[in-house]
Amino acid sequence: MPDHVAPVRRLAARVVRPLCTALLLGLAVTAAGAQEAPAAAAGLTAVKAAHWIDTESGRARGPVVVVIKDERITEVHDGGDVPAGATVIDLGDATLLPGLIDVHVHLTSDPTTSTGNYYRDALTQSAMDEAVLAPMLAKRTLDAGFTTVRNVGAPAYIDVALRDAIDRGQIPGPRMLVATVPIGSTGGHADDSTGFSPDVSFAGPTGVADGVDAVRARVRENVKRGADVIKFMASAGVLSNEASVGAPQYTQAEMDAIVDEAHRWGKKVAAHAHGAEAIAMAIRAGVDSVEHCSFIDAEGLKLAKARGTYLDFDVYNDDYILAEYAKLGTPPAQIAKEKLVGRVQRENFRKAVQANEKMAFATDAGVYPHGWNGKQFAKMVQWGMTPMQAIQSATWNAADLLGWRDRVGAIKPGLYADMVAVKGDPLKDVSVLEHVDFVMKGGRVDRSDLAGR
Ligand code: ARG
Repeated sequence: MPDHVAPVRRLAARVVRPLCTALLLGLAVTAAGAQEAPAAAAGLTAVKAAHWIDTESGRARGPVVVVIKDERITEVHDGGDVPAGATVIDLGDATLLPGLIDVHVHLTSDPTTSTGNYYRDALTQSAMDEAVLAPMLAKRTLDAGFTTVRNVGAPAYIDVALRDAIDRGQIPGPRMLVATVPIGSTGGHADDSTGFSPDVSFAGPTGVADGVDAVRARVRENVKRGADVIKFMASAGVLSNEASVGAPQYTQAEMDAIVDEAHRWGKKVAAHAHGAEAIAMAIRAGVDSVEHCSFIDAEGLKLAKARGTYLDFDVYNDDYILAEYAKLGTPPAQIAKEKLVGRVQRENFRKAVQANEKMAFATDAGVYPHGWNGKQFAKMVQWGMTPMQAIQSATWNAADLLGWRDRVGAIKPGLYADMVAVKGDPLKDVSVLEHVDFVMKGGRVDRSDLAGR
């Protein structure tokens, strides 16, 4: 079953302050004096921390004061003044980083929302079940410090509605770029390959399209429905029932047509590809990123380098699938495919790092629990990245892939005030990013375990 249609589908009470506190606060504001009131009214916030990571230059720095007006950062300076009247958030000895970015998630599925039975889920869960749970998964993602995600496949345009509700401020969640339904060939990774009889089909929009005209039409439909990015299946997959894990599932002409059409609409393209041939074909077609990249060979690395294609390796995924998926009733043939992919993908990740390829942080969360995204950092360091490279892949470099360097990925004037803080030093032990202690999105604190606010 492909991850995006996986069968593994699936008031705040207003704090009434004691009257005396309210009175004291009132007095404090009054006592603060008239000259501070205008700045406070202008909505200035200053976040202070002893350390910060400049993801643009790749340097650890500190101390820092970040001044925020409304949603955006207006000033970043090395300590010193806090503007008069600004609300101060003092994070003490913590390290401040830009909000994290995951360029490959599926917020409509999660193994923890499964009934524990692959086949029962496939038959009893609908897209509506997924739509109901998606906001909860979005909140978990945000709480984990991921303030921006690219959702590369969801049924029934749930991702569009989720993105828009978050953008309107109606529900909490990360900023989202969405792909809507992934495009793929008949019988391929985007086709409903449950392992049931091919006579069994599921209702709802499908990205299945064959031939250059049909794939162009599908790109247009996705754009019309609100896609920010186009996702297609260049090769077979693991969590679906095709015999191969890496064979190309489109012709070169079909891949060329998808990319040409998407780029004419100003949309970037992400290609799912495990096999070396499919990876090379997708890069030649001009995709902006290749997802998974498991069997990438020397030619693929060379092509990606020459074209500036991002390589997105989901190198944590294997641990979770091998530990948990048999228990969820996943067909043994899929687990067998995972065993072909897991280790070689990590070895090739190391080669890509050594070749200095462009790489973005992409987890495929949804296959494993949302909120665990940060677990991939330690894996990336274990397989060859420095902690700084891993952090940049999830910030400044991910922002480049998304085309959002004017919005996210660094602590920099003009960008959204999306920031996280951790007590430990992520450059010494990158696993501290598995449990961030403070999350701010667009200048508003999502959660904080740090004193001093
Ligand atoms: N969604 C991917 C697929 O089904 C998951 C691959 C996970 N395995 C891995 N080693 N990264 O193909």
